[in-house]
Amino acid sequence: MSLLSVDVSQNGGIKNVDSSSSVFEMEEFDFSRLPDRPRNLNMERQRSFDERSLAEIPMGLSPHPPSRADNFNRVLDHLDGIYSPGRKSGFNTPRSHFGYEPHPMTAEAWETLRRSLVYFRGRPVGTIAALDNSEEKLNYDQVFVRDFVPSALAFLMNGEPEIVKNFLLKTLRLQSWEKKIDRFQLGEGVMPASFKVLHDPVRNTETLIADFGESAIGRVAPVDSGFWWIILLRAYTKSTGDLSLAEMPECQKGMRLILSLCLSEGFDTFPTLLCADGCCMIDRRMGVYGYPIEIQALFFMALRCALVLLKQDTQGKEFIERIIKRLHALSYHMRSYFWLDLKQLNDIYRYKTEEYSHTAVNKFNVMPDSLPEWVFDFMPMHGGYFIGNVGPSKMDFRWFCLGNCIAILSSLATPEQATAIMDLIESRWEELVGDMPLKVCYPAIENHEWRIVTGCDPKNTRWSYHNGGSWPVLLWLLTAACIKTGRPQIARRAIELAEARLSKDGWPEYYDGKLGRYIGKQARRYQTWSISGYLVAKMMLEDPSHLGMVAHEEDKQLKPVLKRSSSWTV
Ligand code: GLC
Repeated sequence: MSLLSVDVSQNGGIKNVDSSSSVFEMEEFDFSRLPDRPRNLNMERQRSFDERSLAEIPMGLSPHPPSRADNFNRVLDHLDGIYSPGRKSGFNTPRSHFGYEPHPMTAEAWETLRRSLVYFRGRPVGTIAALDNSEEKLNYDQVFVRDFVPSALAFLMNGEPEIVKNFLLKTLRLQSWEKKIDRFQLGEGVMPASFKVLHDPVRNTETLIADFGESAIGRVAPVDSGFWWIILLRAYTKSTGDLSLAEMPECQKGMRLILSLCLSEGFDTFPTLLCADGCCMIDRRMGVYGYPIEIQALFFMALRCALVLLKQDTQGKEFIERIIKRLHALSYHMRSYFWLDLKQLNDIYRYKTEEYSHTAVNKFNVMPDSLPEWVFDFMPMHGGYFIGNVGPSKMDFRWFCLGNCIAILSSLATPEQATAIMDLIESRWEELVGDMPLKVCYPAIENHEWRIVTGCDPKNTRWSYHNGGSWPVLLWLLTAACIKTGRPQIARRAIELAEARLSKDGWPEYYDGKLGRYIGKQARRYQTWSISGYLVAKMMLEDPSHLGMVAHEEDKQLKPVLKRSSSWTV
């Protein structure tokens, strides 16, 4: 019944898929219709990269019957294999590979994205955080590592990998700088939060300045930057088939330095990574210190990326062994203790406290009284999510978007958990999406709790900015998660909402209010990642094979923990 018309060109690239076919119909796609085709060099290299990833994480037999998402993923894997690297449109706006009429907003978005390019000695090396001259610049005139990720993906998807390569190499050079805050030296592997090009008109020279946290508000080093760097290196490698960048000794060393920071032995009793508040996208005090989900999910994903990017030389092998051990422990810990669904919530509600010894059920001594009231209403019958933070006597029950989407993409979430996360997003659409996708976290903290947790931060008042604000950039992560779980219609709904307002409002950084109806109090306009996030979401929906750049298949070796409730079964 396939309505899908796939035309495989000489180099194996997909030319056109009938736009009338839904992505679901891809499940029916007949693989035998793909002709044996001559492959170009890039294609061969990409294949060997994929095979390497499988060889290094041997896959056992699946304990689960294939789900709707599994079938969909098989199609994606296939599409992934025939993805043609390095497609270049030659125009300022990309052509539509799948015969869709591009939305008028995409042309504007590409134009603005290109205007945000930052050049260093004649080469593009990144994109500026925001092109808004009406507000005080602060550091929005810098290239942020995390902000550049959706821009990079947009360029990769459009067959323009050069800027991504330049960015990866430039930030690698910055990593080797000596980093000091007052008299204290930061770890060698720390990657910058952001950097900027300084022009000296007199001497006619250009130099880079970077911020590793020493200038940032709150003076926190960005733990996420290094992880995003590794994730982007894999996306570049997968998209171009060019292994030579990742194999450069400098890149291998850069990766090892990042990994050394987070795989070092210490006093930890958990495999999760202990962090200061504000060390990630939420870069202000917001009660996300300890073991925040965003960092744990990015940590997991970066480890999986590093596993396939590291060379099997003496130093590489040592790291590979450490990574495999950590991945096992981390996935077990996250899937067991961060996961919350109706059954688990009920268990916590009935927890006994003060249990001693290894037989304890309530291992972290969480007080049932600390369960917030909202969580009982928020939890749907079917659905679940990874909660915000777990530590000694601490569970932060807030829902965070980025961590949950990355958990799906990296397969930190089991297929059942991934389905449950999407179920929850559907059931709690009003709360999490409302009028503008997507809440950075839910719910907002207010009153006394806001005073204590944020230190009375006027930027993070309830339902604003990091405190329950809505961030259009998160659209690309939602879309990727939707495609991975075989539910693209959810992404379409969200994109339609964004299309109703984003361009008219001047691409704000974030929206405020319970429903995300108001342009954020201090939101910048022409915020680059709001623009590139939209483009990436559109391009991914149009050509789901792009998902391969940012998604990982389930690793059957990382055994799921026992099922907890019916919402886990599809
Ligand atoms: C804000 C965001 C941060 C982002 C930066 C630049 O500080 O919280 O995540 O990287 O702006 O856009």
